[in-house]
Amino acid sequence: MRHLLDTTDLSLQEIDEMIALAMDIIEHKEKYAHYCQGKKLATLFFEPSTRTRLSFTAAMYELGGHVLGFDDAGSSSATKGESVEDTVRMAGCYADIIAMRHPLEGAPRVGAYRSAVPIINAGDGGHAHPTQTLTDLLTIYREKGTFDNLTIGLCGDLKFGRTVHSLIKAMCRYKNVRFALIAPKELQVPDYIISDVLEPSGCKYAQVETMEAVMPDLDVLYMTRIQRERFFSEEEYLKHKDAFILDKKKLWNAKQDLTIMHPLPRVNEISTDVDDDPRAKYFVQALNGKYIRMALIIKLLEWGGMM
Ligand code: CP
Repeated sequence: MRHLLDTTDLSLQEIDEMIALAMDIIEHKEKYAHYCQGKKLATLFFEPSTRTRLSFTAAMYELGGHVLGFDDAGSSSATKGESVEDTVRMAGCYADIIAMRHPLEGAPRVGAYRSAVPIINAGDGGHAHPTQTLTDLLTIYREKGTFDNLTIGLCGDLKFGRTVHSLIKAMCRYKNVRFALIAPKELQVPDYIISDVLEPSGCKYAQVETMEAVMPDLDVLYMTRIQRERFFSEEEYLKHKDAFILDKKKLWNAKQDLTIMHPLPRVNEISTDVDDDPRAKYFVQALNGKYIRMALIIKLLEWGGMM
């Protein structure tokens, strides 16, 4: 049985297979309409979500399966003191696969320890969000046709933004990928991303404080929200809250085939005047999330011998 706890749980070949399956699902939706008939997905969301939970739900319905779960820890027995491990073990009695979001880093790994069914990390604190990364990879692949030779600008809260950490881990495994890490010094990527991920990979990267400095070089611009819920004080959050706002004017010298991405939700980071720009792909990206989660559910059930 396999879980998906971090992006690096998947080999490059498995990611390729997942992307190929998602592409086939997009082309031939009807072929997969009964693929998960009789199967159940449990969504255990201890932290708020719109896209991740709804796209998992839509994914399982479109595969002909069923969904159960909770979207608020307050309505679960966690309020009575039940551990993550026991909650996951229980959900495994009622479902064939589990997608779990939790505010504590490592909680899905703890849950996976005794789980009888595959666990998918749907976001754990500031650590990782591997299904967002698969979503991002599918988007990059559909827009660029490759993962190699790309310059990717990551902009905003690179310290607490788990989607950024997971995307760097995934993209630095491809050839000749370069990163522009655009953030104020206080919100730059954690040291371990530099020492354990970027440096060993040999990927080129630059840490800069404005997007204007790198805009003409970028193939992908990945905007992120300042993660208010992870700051230690409201004062700190307010200091950074509007650090970066992408608007039409800032795109004047960007490439014509730039891909603008954002895991969403956005607050102020992308002005709505960018939404109609053909380079804005963040809503397509959210749709891609459904297709890649369909592919992931199929693969994990297959790898677990449950299909
Ligand atoms: N991108 C993302 O994880 O969105 P939600 O928090 O709405 O699930």
